[in-house]
Formats: sequence, structure tokens, C-alpha cells
Amino acid sequence: MSARKSVSVLGLGPMGQATVKILLAAGVDVTVWNRTPGKAEALAELGAKPAATAAEAVAANDTILLSLIHYDAMYGVLEHADLAGKTVVNLSSDSPANTSKGAGWVLDRGARFLTGAYMTQSDDIQHPVSRMYVSGPGALHQELQDLLELLCPTEYLGEDYGIAQLYYQANLAMFHAFLISLEQAVAMIERSGGDVDRFMALRENEPQSLKDFSYFFVEAAKQGGWGDLANLKMMHAGAQHVIDASEEAGVDAEITKTIQQYYQRALDASEQAGRVVPVHQIFSRNG
Ligand SMILES: NC(=O)c1ccc[n+]([C@@H]2O[C@H](COP(=O)([O-])OP(=O)(O)OC[C@H]3O[C@@H](n4cnc5c(N)ncnc54)[C@H](OP(=O)(O)O)[C@@H]3O)[C@@H](O)[C@H]2O)c1
Repeated sequence: MSARKSVSVLGLGPMGQATVKILLAAGVDVTVWNRTPGKAEALAELGAKPAATAAEAVAANDTILLSLIHYDAMYGVLEHADLAGKTVVNLSSDSPANTSKGAGWVLDRGARFLTGAYMTQSDDIQHPVSRMYVSGPGALHQELQDLLELLCPTEYLGEDYGIAQLYYQANLAMFHAFLISLEQAVAMIERSGGDVDRFMALRENEPQSLKDFSYFFVEAAKQGGWGDLANLKMMHAGAQHVIDASEEAGVDAEITKTIQQYYQRALDASEQAGRVVPVHQIFSRNG
């Protein structure tokens, strides 16, 4: 009989929480930690073990999964942890250069490192089209494949720690443009007295993966728009990763900078209103 798998998950935003729930359901022993307290309680009810500090969470297991807003957050989170002999899988998004720098920082502290980028539709990690782009040592990917594939199928992209992010950010460049255009299209139809369901019916030949995605965001738009404050911040940070990845490659990123401004405007409007103002409403307000 093989030993029970055991990991620590640091970072309990929507993706970290979804990751923990899947691992617990698969019978994995999971220790959890989050910078802001209060996010571990619901997971503890499902069987997760909350750690008081990040160092304690790292000490609890050999394999550490990080799910943070960007790579910069990792330095503060792991500052006081003893990483010697550990394996760190960073599931956070960032540019290839920031990822390679982060990997070097972890290696310098005596740990092994693997990059994992969730190519998922929101936090629906187990959607049939979800994938995790992985890069780093091939042998380490093989060693962790059984664990990672409890989450979703992995796509190994090579030894270079940044390469998974390159393909991930290239996908995100398209995703951001598609999503913001969809918000604009729906707002246009709604404010002109058109019928959003008819619009979707007219798009029936859209590929299934895009169709699932479009329905998700159109249904959200009907309820006032997708996203809570954390989602808006994550999208803003995500746009920054696309900008960084483009500019590292010497590619013009003006289109993503424009898209990022919609998330900034939604965040500013939310702060001013004292409630969440999704991007969908930013489009409608301009009408
Ligand atoms: N949600 C999605 O649809 C999706 C899909 C694919 C990939 N991703 C990527 O997955 C990663 C996690 O995403 P997410 O949606 O769960 O939420 P997120 O908002 O990107 O990240 C939230 C997590 O980061 C932590 N964090 C933020 N700033 C920090 C700092 N300075 N120091 C320490 N911790 C910090 C938060 O802690 P606090 O609770 O203390 O703020 C929280 O645990 C991101 O890189 C995101 O781009 C997200």
C-alpha cells in the first residue's frame, strides 16, 4: 500500500482554496496557511490542517504548493521558512523572467523548484479543458505528476523554469482581450435593448471551450457583472504579468495596458462606491 500523499498549500485565494478542496477530496493530507487569517477555517472543516505561520506550514511537509498573487509575494511568505530539502511548486502567475528569478531564489535556499501555471477557466480547476503548464526539471515533474494530476492534466513544457509562464502569459494575452471585448459586447447589446441570449444563440458555432467560457461571463453580466474585489485585483495583477512577459520579449504591450486600465477603473469605482463595481458596469456607465 502506498503512503498517503501529504502537502502544504500556502495562499488561500480562490485558486488556493480550490486546490486544497480537490486534494482533500482525493485523500491527500493538506496543511494550509494564508497571510490574512480567516481563510483556513472553512478548509479546516473539510479536513485541512491550518498552520500558524508560513514557516510552520513549510516544516509540516516536503512538498510545498504556493498559490499567491505574484512571485514577489513568495519572498516575504518564505522568508523565515527553512527550505532545505523541500520541493516548492509555485502555481502563481508571473512573467518568465520573474519566475526564473524566483526559482533561483528557492534553489539558493536548498530546495527543488517546479513552475506550475493553471490554465483554467476561473477556479474551475477540474473543468475538462483545464490544464497545468509545468516547467523545470523533467525528473521532478515525473516525480510529482501523480500529485499534480489529481488537480488537472499537466502539460510539461521544458526545463527552463520560465517557459511554462511564456505559454501561459501568451494564452492570457488572448484571454484578457477576449474577456474585455465580451464585456463590451454584452454592455452594448443590453444598453441598446437587445437580447443577450439571442446574441449567444447567434454564436452557437463558437468552439465548445469558448462557448462555456462565454456563457459563464454572460450569465455573470446578467447579474451585474463578474468578479469580486479579489477577482478584480487578480485580473489587474494578471494583466501586469502579460505586460511584463511581452516587454521582456521586446513586444508591444499597449493593448494589455489599455485592458488593465479597465480593472484599475473598476477597482477605483469600487473603492469610491464602497461596493464592488465590476468591469461590466464600467462599460455600461460610459454608454
Ligand atoms: N482565479 C483564477 O481564475 C486564476 C486562474 C488561473 C491562474 N490564476 C493565478 O493563480 C494565482 C492565485 O490566484 P487567486 O485567484 O487565488 O488569487 P490572487 O488574488 O491572485 O492571490 C491571492 C493570494 O495571494 C496572497 N497574497 C497577495 N499579496 C500577497 C503578499 N504581498 N504577501 C503574501 N501573500 C499575498 C493572498 O493573501 P491574502 O488573503 O492575505 O490577501 C491570497 O492568498 C495568481 O497568480 C493568479 O493569477 C488565477
